[in-house]
Amino acid sequence: MPPLVFAGEARALRAALGEVAAGRAFLIQAGDCAESFHDFTAVSIREKLKIMLQMAAVLTYGAMLPVVKVGRIAGQFAKPRSSPTERVGDVELPSFLGHLVNGEAPTPEARVHDPGRMVQAYHQSAATLNLLRAFTKGGFADIMRVHEWNQNFVATSVEGRRYEQLATEIERALRFMTACGIDVASERQLHEVDVWTSHEGLVLDYEEGLTRRDSLTGDWYDCSAHMLWIGERTRQPDGAHTEFFSGVHNPVGVKLGPGVTADEVLDLCERLNPGRVPGRVTLITRMGAGCIGELLPPLLRSVSEAGHPVVWACDPMHGNGVRTATGVKTRSFDAIMAELESFFAACWQEGAWPGGVHLEYTGEDVTECLGGSEAVLEEQLAHRYETLCDPRLNARQALDLAFRVAELMRQRDVFPGRAG
Ligand code: PEP
Ligand code: CO
Repeated sequence: MPPLVFAGEARALRAALGEVAAGRAFLIQAGDCAESFHDFTAVSIREKLKIMLQMAAVLTYGAMLPVVKVGRIAGQFAKPRSSPTERVGDVELPSFLGHLVNGEAPTPEARVHDPGRMVQAYHQSAATLNLLRAFTKGGFADIMRVHEWNQNFVATSVEGRRYEQLATEIERALRFMTACGIDVASERQLHEVDVWTSHEGLVLDYEEGLTRRDSLTGDWYDCSAHMLWIGERTRQPDGAHTEFFSGVHNPVGVKLGPGVTADEVLDLCERLNPGRVPGRVTLITRMGAGCIGELLPPLLRSVSEAGHPVVWACDPMHGNGVRTATGVKTRSFDAIMAELESFFAACWQEGAWPGGVHLEYTGEDVTECLGGSEAVLEEQLAHRYETLCDPRLNARQALDLAFRVAELMRQRDVFPGRAG
């Protein structure tokens, strides 16, 4: 099959992430927990893109920083699980591992691992990426349309109205520039954006099948996505995933849970980036709101002392999962914000650049995470609980979070040091 992305694009993303590592830009990496073979429509892709564009506008304007936009999209089909089997009623079934591997229905037939799914995932990724490219380069992502990204169910909320205000300010700024004689219409940067793709590189059979040698440089690239990350469960420095991703030149992320040691982090950085190329490695912490404040500072120090030019990003989702009394998997908006606040505080305190956020969201009005300004309550979770795997922020909660992160980012003015 032809590659989905080109080596040159992966290099461009690496350069953009190098700017983040240097403290001159911010990363938003976000999208579905698991993409689905069943939910595959132009509308759902467009709505996910809209919320990415809205969050980016809020952060670019609110924090006055370039924002690197990376979707968990066009390939996010494989899910690591804590246990290879699960109990449903009185039967023990193989766990659901994402549509790249098997089906989610609780039957032995659905749970059979089917390699044909890799071909279907490839085709769905190709079609998704095609539409993303069309939307981002064909006018939809034009900053002149900043108002149109606000969906109806968002526009009526507090953060939706705040967004309207910001969009109006951006429009006024553009009119001001035009009045000053700047030819706004011919500035490509204002009319097109780059939205890069990423997913967890869990199933090495799939990743290897899409790995190609770049004709220009002779280097190997995993052409299934621009960026890949190694999950918390497969990040052993001497494991297969680290070995595989040390051999390709894409930007790579590594998830770091609360059990990680500084030695492991340094070992991972050495193996994945012996040349210390800025932007090659993104360290994505997912420690949980309760322990990040204690666990992160020593890691920030070790990595900085070793001279590794990494991007530090915070995934405030995966360390804050809880179950309600009735057994529904959820996360609270307050815990998510608390982890982000501690992440920023630890970074400022250590003179490290809080480079980005890694989120699970959807453009739809789902009720999967608790809280937010128009609070989703526990008894409302069942109303629209649609995720295939982990609970995602809905579009309102994601926008609310973006405004708060922009405020946290503005604190850099009172913290000297590296923060530019
Ligand atoms: C995920 O990002 O969906 C995931 C499973 O994360 P982690 O590896 O951090 O648990
Ligand atoms: Co998840």
